[in-house]
Amino acid sequence: MLVRLMYASRAADSVDQDELLAILKQSKSGNATSGITGVLCFSGGIFLQVLEGGRMPVNALYNRIAADTRHRDVVLLSYEEIGERRFAGWSMGQSTSRG
Ligand SMILES: Cc1cc2nc3c(=O)[nH]c(=O)nc-3n(C[C@H](O)[C@H](O)[C@H](O)COP(=O)(O)O)c2cc1C
Repeated sequence: MLVRLMYASRAADSVDQDELLAILKQSKSGNATSGITGVLCFSGGIFLQVLEGGRMPVNALYNRIAADTRHRDVVLLSYEEIGERRFAGWSMGQSTSRG
């Protein structure tokens, strides 16, 4: 079963451009091996991320992400069963702004 999960969070003060690139790099390699796709948006100190894939891998990843100290105030915005992926081909797309 495929699911799509979306959450928002507040970046830790330590998150700068280098840290953001490290998170994206880690996401792309981790997701490629677990069949997860999605997109990570970052603007004004706020993350918005969509994860899609099998229910178990998405749930497990969300639990790991929620425990990551590089952000806080993680809020689950939606969780739904899906028929097909919206971000197929993107192990983790990105949309970032320094603003
Ligand atoms: C905002 C944010 C988004 C993240 N997105 C992903 C992701 O999509 N995939 C991933 O594997 N790790 C992601 N991570 C990193 C995970 O929190 C975690 O560090 C990583 O999965 C390695 O976990 P492990 O050391 O327990 O294996 C993200 C971290 C943050 C702060």
